[in-house]
Amino acid sequence: MKHSTAEKSARALAVGQGAERAGVSIATLHFYESKGLIDSWRNSGNQRRYSREVLRRIAVIRVAQRTGLSLKVIKEALSLLPAGRAPSAEDWKQLSKSWRGELEDRIQRLTGLRDQLDGCIGCGCLSLEVCPLRNPRDVLAKQGPGPRLLDPDCSGGSDTKSRTKKKKARFAS
Ligand code: FES
Repeated sequence: MKHSTAEKSARALAVGQGAERAGVSIATLHFYESKGLIDSWRNSGNQRRYSREVLRRIAVIRVAQRTGLSLKVIKEALSLLPAGRAPSAEDWKQLSKSWRGELEDRIQRLTGLRDQLDGCIGCGCLSLEVCPLRNPRDVLAKQGPGPRLLDPDCSGGSDTKSRTKKKKARFAS
């Protein structure tokens, strides 16, 4: 979706327009730009301008942040998008593919938290009536630390390592 310079200028958004339409503050726009998540250019009047496509990037950044994805993970994914032209539907599809695993993990953990919090999570506390049935004498401790029934990966430092390993495997796939 290449635009001529005239078209680009006509479609361009001033900082205030971009912030208003995206539902963020001007400071947030500048912050995203300082983190390399979005970019702008200066027009002949030396005023900062954003392409309309930046609205989609900001929308994706904000929704991704609200699901708990870090700016680092978001930036890694946005870096898959082509520079210098508006990303196509296929480009966005590739991006969402790179996030699929991470999001599936989160959905699984959130669903676990929603559905299992009233039962034994295998954490070793043995404080619920059901614990002796699900985790007699904390037998699950043999499998490792953390809530073995709720989130087996959640075990202090090593969960970050195992998640990064998983993520690297996903990006490589
Ligand atoms: S909830 Fe902690 S061991 Fe069952």
